[in-house]
Amino acid sequence: MLVVYSARHSWLWALGKNIFPSRLQVFALISNPVKQFDFLILGSGIAGLSFALRVAALGRVAIVTKKDRAESNTNYAQGGIASVTSKEDSFELHVRDTLEAGAGLCREWVVRTIVEDGPERIQELIELGMKFSERNAPGEAGGRELDLGREGGHSKRRILHAKDVTGKEIERALLAAISRQPNIEIFENHVAIDLITSQKLGYVGENRCLGAYVFDKNANQIRTFAAPVTMLATGGCGKVYLYTTNPDIATGDGVAMAYRAGAAIANMEFIQFHPTCLYHPKAKSFLISEAVRGEGGILRTLGGREFMDGYHPLKSLAPRDIVARAIDSEMKKSGADCVHLDITNKPARFIIERFPNIYQTCLGYGIDITKEPIPVVPAAHYQCGGVVTNVDGETDIAGLFAIGEVACTGLHGANRLASNSLLEALVCAYRAANKMTGKSQEQPEFKIPAWQSGNAHNPDELVVVSHNWDEIRRLMWDYVGIVRTNKRLLRAQSRLANLQAEIQEYYWNFIVTADLLELRNIATVAELIVRCALMRPESRGLNYNLDFPGLNPDWAQRDSVVRK
Ligand code: FAD
Ligand code: SIN
Repeated sequence: MLVVYSARHSWLWALGKNIFPSRLQVFALISNPVKQFDFLILGSGIAGLSFALRVAALGRVAIVTKKDRAESNTNYAQGGIASVTSKEDSFELHVRDTLEAGAGLCREWVVRTIVEDGPERIQELIELGMKFSERNAPGEAGGRELDLGREGGHSKRRILHAKDVTGKEIERALLAAISRQPNIEIFENHVAIDLITSQKLGYVGENRCLGAYVFDKNANQIRTFAAPVTMLATGGCGKVYLYTTNPDIATGDGVAMAYRAGAAIANMEFIQFHPTCLYHPKAKSFLISEAVRGEGGILRTLGGREFMDGYHPLKSLAPRDIVARAIDSEMKKSGADCVHLDITNKPARFIIERFPNIYQTCLGYGIDITKEPIPVVPAAHYQCGGVVTNVDGETDIAGLFAIGEVACTGLHGANRLASNSLLEALVCAYRAANKMTGKSQEQPEFKIPAWQSGNAHNPDELVVVSHNWDEIRRLMWDYVGIVRTNKRLLRAQSRLANLQAEIQEYYWNFIVTADLLELRNIATVAELIVRCALMRPESRGLNYNLDFPGLNPDWAQRDSVVRK
């Protein structure tokens, strides 16, 4: 079937149907040629890069990425990758720990698949050049083995790491391998705006993803990328909240784009708050790894009292949702702005060797962690929900796949076990790539119209973008944070509806900027988080609602699924 739409045709059609809602100002048709690839990958974190390396043998690959190629959540990962590599550990224990953290909502067979595939994927990463930290092997003169860290909710030491800069080392190794692949082209400073789908173009029948419209920040132009396979690997949405461990790229673009394209989105209420983000007026989003607690760091009130004994038998190493709520409760009780994380019980040399990045960064802010406790607060960290996929990255839109933090596979359930996300991204990238044989030949016969851009400028109105950006992030922090109530959720919902109306009007009237695109996306994702939270009449894992303090058995294996 050949469906040909000229740009004008789609514009006239869109006016009637309001599917590519008309940018009613001026339609400046940009006649850039369509960039045609076999695989279009949005995102250059661990998920996107791992997938690219696997499919490069099957066809031409474009990696579109918002900023510099290494800039991603992956790049800031500290603790490491959870995987069973020691004789004292077992798949059964890793599965059990994951299910326990997930508070009854994980899909057990997905957990089992990802845990069991893990060791082989880790081995391949090592063969690619990834350097994990090692230690002397006990009893073997000169022998070395991988050093294993421990984090909250893990019953064994099983976290492979590169000191406390695991993510940086992953990006280095993967990008080095990518640079040796002639079939892969990376487009930096390119922001994906929206997915192009057959339904949006008016085609009746199966909804198929055909590529994406992408804003090229360098040239200030919108480019059209077309491919039979589009892989969303755009990461999470920490920036929806005022305080986050995430870098600026994490604005939930993938979830927002997939939602607009008609994909199912699930479990967005389960936003994980990391218990220990550095509290310092000059520090922006600096994480103090859970591995610090894994090596003996203790949480204390500012008065020096160890408080986690009152909350969980695992004390400071309890699952994250419990630790974050305990800190929130202690801060509310005392009125303090933060709590303390104290690792001074360990020798200075060990701390400096094991956590060089945390040590140096804190020292830069005047805190010597070998001698004094670290001021910490919880902050938004990880999106457990996302675009609904199976363990092979398939979504419910043909030609559209999603892997990594943007996806909701069922691994994390209501609360992710620490260091399981890098593992999930590696395993799902591999499995998705295995599904691709033959896909590059499937060229859907659609002609895609060029992007039609409104061209109104009004610098006076740029304040709308910055004001709404701040307002959304603050209201999400205040009303949709660690502890929720329905009244606060409803209040957030009505504010978000007003803000979204304003943003939509602005979006269709003015020229595209990266800030405007991100604002539009955080507004959409905020709305989805609130909608999912309002659907779930219980407190489970990361969704803690004072109006429904217990578990509701009817929701034990039920996802909160939303669609456009
Ligand atoms: P990312 O690594 O976030 O990559 C997303 C990519 O998409 C980026 O390249 C971004 O620029 C690009 N992108 C986004 N939107 C667009 C768009 N519209 N157009 C074009 N490109 C776009 N997990 C662990 O398992 N272990 C850890 O130790 C650990 N530590 C962490 C520490 C920190 C500080 C943070 C923030 C997270 C940590 N996590 C950890 C979580 C983990 O890092 C992430 O879940 C994981 O790296 C996500 O990988 P990804 O490839 O899915 O997304
Ligand atoms: C950390 O190092 O504490 C982060 C680990 C994770 O988010 O999985």
